[in-house]
Amino acid sequence: MTIALTGFMGSGKSSVGRELAALTRYPLTDLDTYIETTSGRSIRTIITTQGEPVFREMETAALQALTQAPGQTGSPRILALGGGTLTAPASARIVRERTTCIYLRATVDTLVRNLLLSPGDRPLLAGGDLRTRVASLLAERAATYESTARIILDTDGLSFRQAAERIMAMLGDH
Ligand code: S3P
Repeated sequence: MTIALTGFMGSGKSSVGRELAALTRYPLTDLDTYIETTSGRSIRTIITTQGEPVFREMETAALQALTQAPGQTGSPRILALGGGTLTAPASARIVRERTTCIYLRATVDTLVRNLLLSPGDRPLLAGGDLRTRVASLLAERAATYESTARIILDTDGLSFRQAAERIMAMLGDH
């Protein structure tokens, strides 16, 4: 069983993933970290030198490697996706078919606040006004997050721990 966490940059996928891993005792894999480790390059380098489409192909290949086809058994894991992983239809298909995907849904206000608190290295948010960029990219992606996820959790006002506890309860109901 793979529990995949999706959501916009700054929605807390990795942080909620860590809490969920502690509660379930399943290992946590971060898709960005996996790609950086296996390719020996940073996400920034891949996107800025090879382009976003190549990065999206690498995400699809990583998802293939980390998940099992329906009917195959594999060890359970928590998988924190990148914020744009589902924009590639091939990746969205793998996530839909092979994982229980949870969308950490947050408002633009929450996302901007989180991104300002822990800026990280996010080449796709560079340039221009952060709030405008987040709002327009989220508007492009929201339908894809919502149609791919099996569970949607509104995270505004929740701590990472509370979000993980809600997910545990929702998984129990599924
Ligand atoms: C991206 C999100 C990033 C990373 C890359 C592209 C996106 O992951 O995969 O910079 O397109 O939203 P996080 O959501 O973990 O920041």
